Amino acid sequence: MTTVLEVKDITKTYMMGEISVNALRGLSFEVESGEYIAIVGPSGSGKSTMLNMIGALDRPTSGKLMIEGVDVSTLSDNQLADTRKNVGFVFQFFNLISRLDARGNVELPLAIAGVPRDERKKRTEEVLISVGLEDRMHHKPSELSGGERQRVAVARAIVTNPAFILMDEPTGNLDSKTAGEIMGLVKQLNEKHGVTLIVVTHDQNIGRQAGRTLHMLDGVIASDVVN
Ligand SMILES: Nc1ncnc2c1ncn2[C@@H]1O[C@H](COP(=O)(O)OP(=O)(O)OP(=O)(O)O)[C@@H](O)[C@H]1O
Ligand SMILES: [Mg+2]
Repeated sequence: MTTVLEVKDITKTYMMGEISVNALRGLSFEVESGEYIAIVGPSGSGKSTMLNMIGALDRPTSGKLMIEGVDVSTLSDNQLADTRKNVGFVFQFFNLISRLDARGNVELPLAIAGVPRDERKKRTEEVLISVGLEDRMHHKPSELSGGERQRVAVARAIVTNPAFILMDEPTGNLDSKTAGEIMGLVKQLNEKHGVTLIVVTHDQNIGRQAGRTLHMLDGVIASDVVN
């Protein structure tokens, strides 16, 4: 097993004018390649903030963060963006592009990565089929249900075959059947292809499936339990 993520005493302070908000107050943990980790904890405890750091979307205020052996504090913004290409992100509020249809949203990361058009089309269709959206490819986000939007977001996250998948409440808006289907799909990627999976969730079923649970409280990890 290789350590793919090393988090040492990281903090994140947001400045709101004169007021500082300490969202993370000294987090430390390590993640091995191929782990499936659930992150739980109350609203405001810093879960999304932490995901943003480990997905290279933002930088910690202090502390050390190593992603695949690279210290992110040594990276330029461009290099940080390159690191992000290895990460599939499913955001808490979808972040789909409203003027693109389902296919366009899923195809976008492939276009950015410079994948040739034919291959892009084929791969996009495969992934949309795998999340059960073959009949919704030409719908824009406003023409999809909440659960369908979430499935587009999952398809977009997995289309590039990332080494990491980070999910923020991926099943928050889904019925339990659809939630189970989506998480089954992602778990398969974890089991068959060794994708490292880190999922913020309130869903007890996901919590049970994960190999390890990190409990966050007030910007720190209150417990780290191997299931
Ligand atoms: N961009 C920001 N600017 C200022 N404060 C922020 C910002 N983002 C988050 N915060 C604050 O940091 C703290 C942690 O927020 P975060 O979004 O990480 O919580 P969370 O655990 O994901 O909560 P939830 O379960 O509600 O999604 C909160 O107190 C929040 O108000
Ligand atoms: Mg959050």
